[in-house]
This record gives sequence, structure tokens and C-alpha cells, in this order.
Amino acid sequence: MANLVCRAHVLENGFGVENLHLRERAVPELDPYSIRIAIKAVSLNFRDYLMVSGQYNPKQKLPLIPLSDGAGEVIAVGSSVTRFQVGDRVMPTFSQSWIGKRPKSDDLRKSTLGGPLDGTARTIMQVPEWAAVAIPDHLSYAEAATLPCAALTAWSALVVMNQVKPGDVVVVLGTGGVSIFALQFAKMLGCTVIATSSSHDKLKKAAELGADYLINYREKPEWAKEVRKITHMQGADHIIEVGGAGTLEQSIRAVRMDGVISLIGILAGSSKEINLLPILMQNVRVQGILVGGREAFEDMCRAIAAHKLKPAIDRFFDFAELPEAIQYLKSGSHFGKIVLNVS
Ligand SMILES: NC(=O)c1ccc[n+]([C@@H]2O[C@H](COP(=O)([O-])OP(=O)(O)OC[C@H]3O[C@@H](n4cnc5c(N)ncnc54)[C@H](OP(=O)(O)O)[C@@H]3O)[C@@H](O)[C@H]2O)c1
Repeated sequence: MANLVCRAHVLENGFGVENLHLRERAVPELDPYSIRIAIKAVSLNFRDYLMVSGQYNPKQKLPLIPLSDGAGEVIAVGSSVTRFQVGDRVMPTFSQSWIGKRPKSDDLRKSTLGGPLDGTARTIMQVPEWAAVAIPDHLSYAEAATLPCAALTAWSALVVMNQVKPGDVVVVLGTGGVSIFALQFAKMLGCTVIATSSSHDKLKKAAELGADYLINYREKPEWAKEVRKITHMQGADHIIEVGGAGTLEQSIRAVRMDGVISLIGILAGSSKEINLLPILMQNVRVQGILVGGREAFEDMCRAIAAHKLKPAIDRFFDFAELPEAIQYLKSGSHFGKIVLNVS
């Protein structure tokens, strides 16, 4: 086993997709508490584009194997491993050290895959046994590869940090990975969902997944007014805010008295002058969300299994096509998730 090698996408000599190269990498000896996984599929998050382009952390040390999300089969276990056995189907966790509800700062700064730690864009990887979760039986490797970051973020926003109830009105912004999982979970939990998108075609697909009301935010840039109309001027209970500075003002106008804005992303910018008065005058809670820990991931998988929920995959690429897949993600043409087959 000493000479085992894998293939890995390595970001080296600078940021940018042009600096991604497929390399052979030696697979180290397995320590007693780790498992070796043959990765079968990986998926992309907007964070991966930011990381590879140097916008997420310009001080990220290179070389780096990118991507946080993947799924595969356990092909070897360390001598002291008890959680998994050879043949199990698993997903490595986004934060390798965050287990319970509350993260420590190192869980978020030092232990996340695809930066600062080497990620899933490789054919074989090894993780500590506590840093992986079993795949729900009804999901393929490709479907499972979409869960560790995007799905868990949506789950944390709706269930862990804020307990949405049946009948709550949830607004999801756009039709990317996080928002489509939020749509699916909100429907699973009995909520009314208002979906927004820049595209009529994507709104049709959101309706097929159960979205109750549809707003084209290109045609209606003041989409908060539409949310107010739909909710009889009350506003929505919960907003899945992935736009950030560019959309927060509308989210503040769209949320109800005592409602929640889950602040997740910065697709439309990270800083802008914003009037904070309505937040306090309306008792609004703005809750930052950062993915989630392993126990929340396991709870989410139980719910996904019980409801036989299937992730929405927009398009598949071959493993070698990572640069093309990242460009496609950046174009924003996708609905839901983008997956690369690895085996
Ligand atoms: N905090 C966390 O833990 C966490 C975890 C995951 C992701 N994120 C962040 O959350 C954001 C979404 O991530 P993702 O992976 O889901 O991204 P993604 O799949 O790349 O989402 C892209 C989609 O977002 C929509 N969008 C873009 N600009 C928008 C705007 N101004 N208003 C409304 N929708 C807009 C577009 O949907 P349409 O084409 O339908 O208009 C676009 O197709 C990113 O900023 C990411 O970094 C944060």
C-alpha cells in the first residue's frame, strides 16, 4: 500500500482556473482512526469558484486540492476505526472537526475541506472516522455528493438555527444550490415557498419542485413588494438570503414583524450602506449561517431518507473537466447543483 497513488486536481503557482492541474499524488499510510475513501462523485459550490479565483481567502496557501463536497466508498479503515467498515458509502464533512451544535472558531477557520485543508477533488482521500457521514440508501453517489455544504447550509438555516413551522412563508433567492435545497426542505416541513429567479424557465422548474409563488427579480427588482402582496402585507416569516449586500435591503422589506433573515451568501456583494432601522423597528432577526456540524448533517440525512428527497442536479461533467465546470458555475446558468463523476 506504500505506493498507492491517486489523481487530484491541484491549484498551484497562483489562483485562477488556469492554474488547476491534474496530478498524481501519493496516498499516505492510513492512521488508526482514519478511513480511506474512493471518491465517486464531487459537486461544486459557489465557494469553490471564490476559493480557486483567490477571492475567498487571498492568503490561502498553495498548492491546494479544491472542493469541499464529495461522496465515495470506504476502501480501507484504520485499525481503531469503529464507525465505518469497508464497503460503506460515505460523504466527508465540510468542517472536519465540527461535530455538535456549536462550532469553535477553529472548526470554521482551520478544518474545512477545499481550503484551508485539501478537498475532495481527487480519486482517493482519507479523513478521520468522525469526519464522515453515511449516505442515505436511496441516493446515488452523485446525489450524495451535493449534500455536505449546500444542503446542510439550507438545513441549518431552516431547522437548526431557526425552527420553521408548517404554514410559515419562506422566500428563497435565486435557484442555486443552497436555495433549491431550502425550497425542498421548506416544502418537506409544510411551509409555503416563494421562489425568486432571473429566469422564467428556472421559475418553472422551481414550481415543479413545489414552489407556491414565483417572482422574476429581473422584471421586479423591488420584489419585496410582491412578497408583501402575496402575504397580505404581512411579509414572509423567513428569507434565505444568498445575495448579501445587493439583496439585503429587499429582504428587510420582505420579512415580517419578528421574522428571520438567514444571511448565507454574498452573490450580489458583501458591503453596501444599508438602513438598519427597519431591523430593530420590526424585531427582525438577521442570523448568520455557516454550513453546519456533523450531527446536524446526520439529522438532515435522516430527514432526507424519510422523505426520499432527491437533490436537483443540473448537469454532469467528467472529473477532468473541473475548470470547465467551475466556469459553468460562474456563468450562473445552472439550476441546483453541478456534479463531476470521478470513478
Ligand atoms: N454561509 C454558508 O455556510 C454558505 C454555504 C453555501 C453557500 N454560501 C454562499 O451562498 C451563496 C449561494 O451559494 P450557492 O453555492 O447556492 O451558489 P450558486 O449555486 O452558484 O447560485 C447561483 C444562483 O444564485 C442566484 N443569484 C445570483 N445573484 C442573485 C441575486 N442578486 N438575487 C437573487 N439570486 C441571485 C442566481 O439564480 P437565478 O439564475 O435563478 O437568478 C444564480 O443562478 C454564495 O454566496 C455562497 O458563497 C454560503
